[in-house]
Amino acid sequence: MSEKKITPDIKAEANVQMPAPKNPTAQTEKVVDAVIEEKQVTEESAPATEETAKKKRFNIHFKIGKFEFGKKADENVPKTEEELEREKDLEEARLEQEAREKKAEEDKLLPPDPEALLEVRHLKKYFVLKKTITGKALQTLRAVDDVSFVLKPGQTLGIVGESGCGKTTMGRTILKLHQPSGGQIFFNQQDVATYKPKQMRPLRTEMQIIFQDPYSSLPPRSTVGDILSEPVKVHGIVPKDQVKDYVLGIMEQCGLRDYYYERYPHEFSGGQRQRICIARALTVKPKLVVCDEPVSALDVSIQAQIINLLKKLQKTMGLTYVFISHDLSVVKHISDQIGVMYLGSMVEFGNKTDIFKNPLHPYTQALFSAVPNPNPDVKMKRIVLNGDIPSPANPPLGCKFHTRCPLAKEICKHVAPVYKEYEPGHFAACHCYPQE
Ligand SMILES: Nc1ncnc2c1ncn2[C@@H]1O[C@H](COP(=O)(O)OP(=O)(O)OP(=O)(O)O)[C@@H](O)[C@H]1O
Ligand code: SF4
Ligand SMILES: [Mg+2]
Repeated sequence: MSEKKITPDIKAEANVQMPAPKNPTAQTEKVVDAVIEEKQVTEESAPATEETAKKKRFNIHFKIGKFEFGKKADENVPKTEEELEREKDLEEARLEQEAREKKAEEDKLLPPDPEALLEVRHLKKYFVLKKTITGKALQTLRAVDDVSFVLKPGQTLGIVGESGCGKTTMGRTILKLHQPSGGQIFFNQQDVATYKPKQMRPLRTEMQIIFQDPYSSLPPRSTVGDILSEPVKVHGIVPKDQVKDYVLGIMEQCGLRDYYYERYPHEFSGGQRQRICIARALTVKPKLVVCDEPVSALDVSIQAQIINLLKKLQKTMGLTYVFISHDLSVVKHISDQIGVMYLGSMVEFGNKTDIFKNPLHPYTQALFSAVPNPNPDVKMKRIVLNGDIPSPANPPLGCKFHTRCPLAKEICKHVAPVYKEYEPGHFAACHCYPQE
């Protein structure tokens, strides 16, 4: 029998059970031994359950120089079935990750699409949540995980998905407001993913963003005139003596009266403020505008005005939009292409008609089943997803959607599906379709 530390609890237990001894010391020791023996027999004969295996294996042990502290993990404890399965899944996930990285390396050699204004290949943005004192990442959050698409000039790409799926991070990473963790971003056939801030400066005027909240995105102490003139002066868009006329022209296009020029942001309604934000983005004559939920903070009638304004400006100024929203009706109205994101990955991509008429991915089907139909004769078949969206810091292995998918199969738990083109320009990642 191996030695076991006597805990105060065991001693107390022993003393309670026994009558007062004649020779108190000898008697108590015997009883304590008996109780310990009994406890060990029970522990040793117990099967290696998850709980006991973990307890024995995860002892704290660390080294500082040649000194060792704590107790080493017991490596002889047999692994439970669950642990073995998890190890196998992790190994498969590692191999998949390697295969994806290999594919991204191969794709790097391909030339950019000559017709695209924006081409994104295998884009990744990981945030480090925890690191060691030496700076090594211990826990990362995959906000954007291997996203690829092509966007032609003058078109609108609508990005949809639940809150936290990485829409904003993707938009910001495309504009290099976040440094990408991997992948390529071809803007006008130049790969800007590796560009330094100085190299990005001349491109800043060509790529703009409109933020979700028109209340916090305008400086409160500047007049509308100052807010709109500043980028024009900084980037030298027109000669200095023409700046005011130029700004007044943009304001008119965005439905802002000329006497607003001297006013401050707090004097405007939400809709008017969003018009100021749109005007600010357009003053530098951009080609690409990322609109990050530009109407979600506004009421429905104002939403329609802003969407129509964006559509009108797109036609007159030849703009290309990446339009982020979780309002599918708005996305349907404004988009040419639609990308559906789930936990940082693009699960389906295609043109608006294909995606709305024939959604391939079960997540897209569930999302679109919630869009209200104005025809009272059409019976809606709502697909309700169970559970919450998992954390992107600890996404499920295999298909990230398997924990909530009504069509999930055994393979979905272990193997991530390939993102493939199933119809011309219509991509999806799901085991329901051929993977080869
Ligand atoms: N700077 C950051 N550091 C760490 N994590 C971040 C950071 N920015 C975003 N995230 C995480 O990345 C994930 C994606 O966030 P993101 O804002 O892109 O989602 P979203 O799809 O735009 O959501 P919403 O619809 O609510 O705006 C979230 O889990 C978020 O917590
Ligand atoms: S791969 Fe499986 S779990 Fe994922 S969406 Fe398709 S059927 Fe559902
Ligand atoms: Mg967002």
